Amino acid sequence: MPRAEYKKALVTGGAGFIGSHIVQRLVDLGIEVSVIDDLSMGRIENLDKGVRFFHGNILDSGLLKRSLHGVEVVFHNAARVSIRNSFDAIYADAETNVMGTVNLLKESGLAGIKKFIYASSMAVYSEGKTAVLGEEHPKRPASPYGVSKLAGEMYTERMAAHYGFQNIVLRYFNTFGPKQTLTPYVGVITIFINNLLAGKAPVIYGDGSQVRDFIFVEDIAQANIIAMQSLTNNCAVNVGTGKGTSVAEIARMLIEKINPGIEPEYARAPEGEPKDSIALVSTAKDLLGFEAKFALKDKIDTVIEWNRISAEKRVN
Ligand SMILES: NC(=O)c1ccc[n+]([C@@H]2O[C@H](COP(=O)([O-])OP(=O)(O)OC[C@H]3O[C@@H](n4cnc5c(N)ncnc54)[C@H](O)[C@@H]3O)[C@@H](O)[C@H]2O)c1
Repeated sequence: MPRAEYKKALVTGGAGFIGSHIVQRLVDLGIEVSVIDDLSMGRIENLDKGVRFFHGNILDSGLLKRSLHGVEVVFHNAARVSIRNSFDAIYADAETNVMGTVNLLKESGLAGIKKFIYASSMAVYSEGKTAVLGEEHPKRPASPYGVSKLAGEMYTERMAAHYGFQNIVLRYFNTFGPKQTLTPYVGVITIFINNLLAGKAPVIYGDGSQVRDFIFVEDIAQANIIAMQSLTNNCAVNVGTGKGTSVAEIARMLIEKINPGIEPEYARAPEGEPKDSIALVSTAKDLLGFEAKFALKDKIDTVIEWNRISAEKRVN
């Protein structure tokens, strides 16, 4: 199959959880990689030594100009990532996710890039009558975060047409894997693992029957590589596994593996989080030839181990 080839990439948020896995894949492919990250959540040790690092904010046009020099393809992953926290931090969420994206699109266009791959989210979808969400599912996001990610999608499409670069929007579903920074807000698997490692109960919001589509971070990185190489243009694609697991099942599985005997605690379901969400994955397969390779049960031990080592380092 014919493929698009690029020599130089910029990954925004490349020191973060997902961005750093994309960076690693690009480096392995021999592509020259620049990263811009303000390290608000990302970590410098997540970055490969061969990467050119620009420390700062995507709102800084001068820094963007320098980091975009000679770049052909941009992977835009920098964002403030929290559904729950985006209500209280609505200004900061919009500032990075909307204005940061606008600034990056403008500078990318002026720099003459060829392709822009935008990290979007299942948070753009409305609460559905069905758990399985196709790309055409209505979009009335239930959180400021979802609104900001949807605005980013729409700006991407418009500005790509205006400047004449290609674009692909990837709507990631719940991503799990090593290198996710521990916060109280994002990544139920990382949060539960760290609770259990510390001898604390995992806290389930709602009754735990809510279903999520958990996709391994290396699959997300692979979807980005395929999107880069693909000749498909101007589309929005779900990136999930097509399989759902309830939050109660996750808690049960992790308790059994890490700290048997602990009982989960329950708290009120927060505003803005959808009841169920599973990706319809046929578009990713048809348009990009992408299918997730890893199952949750096959990768969970690796993720527990990574968090165990990380927790020990925090203590010492
Ligand atoms: N983790 C998930 O389950 C998930 C699901 C759907 C979509 N996403 C999207 O994937 C992308 C990556 O998310 P992640 O989970 O890796 O989160 P992350 O917080 O680990 O990564 C985001 C990175 O962006 C950096 N950053 C934040 N604001 C910045 C700014 N103004 N300027 C420069 N750098 C900035 C942070 O330091 C961090 O390294 C985001 O766009 C997010 O919306 C993530």
